[in-house]
Amino acid sequence: MPEIREHIPAAHQPDAEPAIKLIDVVRNYTRPRTSLLRSAPAVHALRGVNLEVKQGERFGIVGESGCGKSTLLRIIAALDRASSGHVIVEGTDITHLPERRLRFLRENLQLVFQDPMSSLDPRMRVRDIIAEPLVVQGHPASGQRVRELLEAVGLSADAGDRYPHQFSGGQRQRISIARALAPRPRILVADEPVSALDVSVRAQVLNLISDLVDELNLTLVFVSHDLSVVKHVCDRVAVMNAGQIVETGYTGDVYAAPQHPYTQRLVSAIPTLHRALSGATTTDLLATKGEPA
Ligand SMILES: Nc1ncnc2c1ncn2[C@@H]1O[C@H](COP(=O)(O)OP(=O)(O)OP(=O)(O)O)[C@@H](O)[C@H]1O
Ligand SMILES: [Mg+2]
Repeated sequence: MPEIREHIPAAHQPDAEPAIKLIDVVRNYTRPRTSLLRSAPAVHALRGVNLEVKQGERFGIVGESGCGKSTLLRIIAALDRASSGHVIVEGTDITHLPERRLRFLRENLQLVFQDPMSSLDPRMRVRDIIAEPLVVQGHPASGQRVRELLEAVGLSADAGDRYPHQFSGGQRQRISIARALAPRPRILVADEPVSALDVSVRAQVLNLISDLVDELNLTLVFVSHDLSVVKHVCDRVAVMNAGQIVETGYTGDVYAAPQHPYTQRLVSAIPTLHRALSGATTTDLLATKGEPA
């Protein structure tokens, strides 16, 4: 397995507009009613989240399953809306903007999901999958641009003629990354982008994301349940627990001297990066407490 490269934080412009700012974001869901007599139970997925991601920063969000990470990303991408609070992307308050006014966001912010198989249309050729976000936004998608993107993610030009099922999981995630980069976004949001992949290719895909973020000067929001993975990719990290951010800091500091008891638990149970990449999750390790990590 190749070594994952340590990321050296870039210098940030202190006065620049934050890429993303969340103010007191709450998201409540109602579960379907199970009884006519009782009211529908509420799920408090986000309980007042405040955060600021600087331009060009690599920002990690870490926490156990169900703590609200994906909900937070969906709200940042306006795929879901906050119950209350404000979401500001590149200086524009998107909280209540209707879809027709979200064009700038759809171009500038792109997502990569956990499972490339379910996020790629199996009936489309790879070149059309990659060109789709451009076509949707009314830009002509040249074959040249698609070939450039395939090359950028380490796939051969003839990969464009094939279908997603003809690729391995790691290659499919490369296709998802190429598609995300097609509209030349400034912000890349990745939700557990390697946890569904075969162990042997996780480090390669992480390194690819890391290299592309550097080359293209992107802002990265990177979600993982694993602090050791986040540490190697991100400058700063927010630790989430039960819909709230309990601690934010530079990844090295949070890792070396966690302040909040929940983060201390996460760090003390942390797997080494290689164990993380080989599939042991922090949740598994918390469950088998006492076993040396
Ligand atoms: N559309 C929805 N309707 C009802 N409840 C939801 C909905 N989406 C999320 N939830 C609930 O909100 C909480 C947070 O879910 P979320 O998917 O954001 O967690 P997560 O941190 O991404 O978890 P994982 O690590 O497993 O992906 C969970 O209790 C989940 O069941
Ligand atoms: Mg999730």
